[in-house]
Amino acid sequence: MTTTVLPAASGFGAVVTGLDLSRPLPAATLAAVKAAFAAHAVLSFPGQPLDLDGQETFTRQFGDFGEDPFIKPLPGRPHILELRRAADETAPNFGAGWHSDWSFQPHPPAATILHGKIIPPVGGDTLFADCAAAYEALSPAFRRLCDGLTALHSARLPYGRDGVYANETARRTMEIVTGEAAEAVQAHPLVRIHPVTGRRALYCSPVYTIGIDGMSRDEGYAILGHLFRHAVEARFQFRHRWAPDTLLMWDNRVTLHFAEGGYDGHLRVMHRTTVAGEAVIGTDLGE
Ligand code: SIN
Repeated sequence: MTTTVLPAASGFGAVVTGLDLSRPLPAATLAAVKAAFAAHAVLSFPGQPLDLDGQETFTRQFGDFGEDPFIKPLPGRPHILELRRAADETAPNFGAGWHSDWSFQPHPPAATILHGKIIPPVGGDTLFADCAAAYEALSPAFRRLCDGLTALHSARLPYGRDGVYANETARRTMEIVTGEAAEAVQAHPLVRIHPVTGRRALYCSPVYTIGIDGMSRDEGYAILGHLFRHAVEARFQFRHRWAPDTLLMWDNRVTLHFAEGGYDGHLRVMHRTTVAGEAVIGTDLGE
């Protein structure tokens, strides 16, 4: 089988074919996949009918499992979350806000791997934003401002005592745990340097970033509000359309993602694992 990497026209996102992910990849193939991942940030592998063991084995080729708080994992599979939305659910679909996974952690996950199990006939796409391209498109003066800032991240808006999930009344299949643990605040550089490519990227999201260190709420949101809108402009986006058995892998260090709805009345089931990441490295002031 010939392995092919077909990038999107922008270079952000690529489709990889010609691999059998149910078995550990040979070293050279794994290196090629890692290189494609660094180059394109979102990789989709269609036609990969993996079971739970297969997804765990694939994930572990990229590092340790990440820690997934606030959502009950599959029984007996502490590292696999099932993102399930029943056909009759009316609660908003999980992930329907731009974010980078678990950015409130001291070492947020480097990658997330999502396997499409049951795909609705309409809707349910996953959108990605290229936060390196978004950073590079800022004016030099605004880039310099952002380079010197530290952002504050927290899980409190979705998962806190008074967060979105704590207040919802509609039934949800996924078991989400809200409360005190989500109130913690974690500081990260607003602009992070990718540990593999060295590229700079905006690292903030409307779901998890709650302010800028040393600034008032209004000052912080004046900057963040601009970045939240700018980073997800259509010119930085990649849209992934699902088919059953597609495995999708994205780099949380350089992307935001958004789970689109539009499939009320249809079941959607995905299995999600994460790869542990490193401390967020920022830029030097005025560099
Ligand atoms: C997520 O991980 O945020 C959900 C993505 C999706 O279900 O498409």
